[in-house]
Amino acid sequence: MEIRFENQRPESSDVIAFIIGSKELDDYDFPLDNPEFVRTTAKEARFNGSDGQSFLFFAQQGGKSVRVVVLGVGTGDALSYEKAGGTLIAKVQTCGAQSIALHAENLSGTLAASVAYGVKAKNWRMDEYKTKLTDAQKPSITSLTVVGANDEAQSEWDKMSAIADGVMLTRELVAEPANVIYPETFVERCQHLADLGVKITVLGDEEMEELGMGALLGVSQGSIRPARLLAMHWDGTGGKQKRPVAFVGKGVTFDTGGISIKPAGGMEDMKWDMGGAGAVAGAMKALAGRKANANVVGICGLVENMPDGNAQRPGDVVTSMSGQTIEVINTDAEGRLVLCDALHWAQETYNPEYIVNLATLTGAIIVSLGHEYAGLFSNSDELSEKLLASAETSGDGLWRFPLGKAYDKLINSQIADMKNIGSRGAGSITAAQFLQRFIQKDVKWAHLDIAGMAWDDKAGPTYAKGATGFGVRLLNNLVAENFED
Ligand code: BES
Ligand code: ZN
Ligand code: ZN
Repeated sequence: MEIRFENQRPESSDVIAFIIGSKELDDYDFPLDNPEFVRTTAKEARFNGSDGQSFLFFAQQGGKSVRVVVLGVGTGDALSYEKAGGTLIAKVQTCGAQSIALHAENLSGTLAASVAYGVKAKNWRMDEYKTKLTDAQKPSITSLTVVGANDEAQSEWDKMSAIADGVMLTRELVAEPANVIYPETFVERCQHLADLGVKITVLGDEEMEELGMGALLGVSQGSIRPARLLAMHWDGTGGKQKRPVAFVGKGVTFDTGGISIKPAGGMEDMKWDMGGAGAVAGAMKALAGRKANANVVGICGLVENMPDGNAQRPGDVVTSMSGQTIEVINTDAEGRLVLCDALHWAQETYNPEYIVNLATLTGAIIVSLGHEYAGLFSNSDELSEKLLASAETSGDGLWRFPLGKAYDKLINSQIADMKNIGSRGAGSITAAQFLQRFIQKDVKWAHLDIAGMAWDDKAGPTYAKGATGFGVRLLNNLVAENFED
């Protein structure tokens, strides 16, 4: 869909949309042939401009019939305006109309861009494998014109559009099935970030072997797909910010559980066990796309967890790149094994001041938080506060959990330095304690367990059913609010 900002409503518009705050309806100057008809019809439909309300009807305009959509935002913040954009496109995406005109004369540039963001984000869908869609089922809308927005709207939009592009990359990576996205093809789908100025480094099996990444490679050894470690470095400061911020993602492109195999029911969901890596790639695309004035590196540990004659066994002991040894009690607790080597390599290679890792790490986090928040675990109150603030502004919810010695003790092993699972209880916390053992002194680190958030079985306000793109906006806002001048 083409999205542009103009002063005049194009003649050809066949959907005309308005954003109305609470108490605004009576005084709203509808630039239509029959403004009173719009106002009374909306009122009859009990539309009063409250947040989340929407109403569509047909009206005569310039001698032809057009759809008029009024969207309520109440006294809401930018997220309400994004939702309104999402509602707008959901109502007309496949209705047969082609061009939306959104009146934005009454909106600030930022809020006009927010509505456009909602339209672009919600418009994304994955139809690639649907070969039998009828014309009536296919999207008909080809353009959105934001009309009469002020001067700052276009530059705000350039940024938000780049963020939406990042979110859509994440959704694409997460939604693709595991026979299409595996470590090598994940890397291929990220190569285009180089065109935005991102420096891409890829390690293969042999290089990781030489570096001693026995934990990551142990997970991968039951798969015929070779593993990859992908690093995407964006430095928008021209070398001024010496220590980068690092984002590290779990990229298990399919998680069967390995020899500790998962039950068949629902196993197909494990194609999105690379949601952390997907979010990291999307965040890097967003940051580079909007030329963020920050030094950020995104690292993805990419493997497939399969059972075969060469797969690792429960009870195997592996040596991680850090030198610490791990007894693999359960091969299904593989995300932490991948991350521990990715985290260690990130610190050795880039010396980051802050690290945020994202992972669909534990089913237990879904037991705790459902699908409302991702779990936040951190060694730093400062970084936690920054992340919680970005969660508020981005809408990507976070809830902080405790860490501590008593939990850490639960992963001591009889035979090695640690084991990869605790006993019963606090499964998300013991997973976080495991990761913390690989964080070096003076590094401010947070782990986000996004198992409940990467995917949604129902549509949300700005996403279709399926991959949500969770984490991209959170990381983007974290950088925008803290690490850019
Ligand atoms: N990828 C899963 C976690 C997961 C579960 C993500 C459900 C999304 C939805 C992870 O690798 C896993 O299998 N974790 C185990 C850990 C257990 C063996 C300690 C789990 O949560 O059951
Ligand atoms: Zn697993
Ligand atoms: Zn997993």
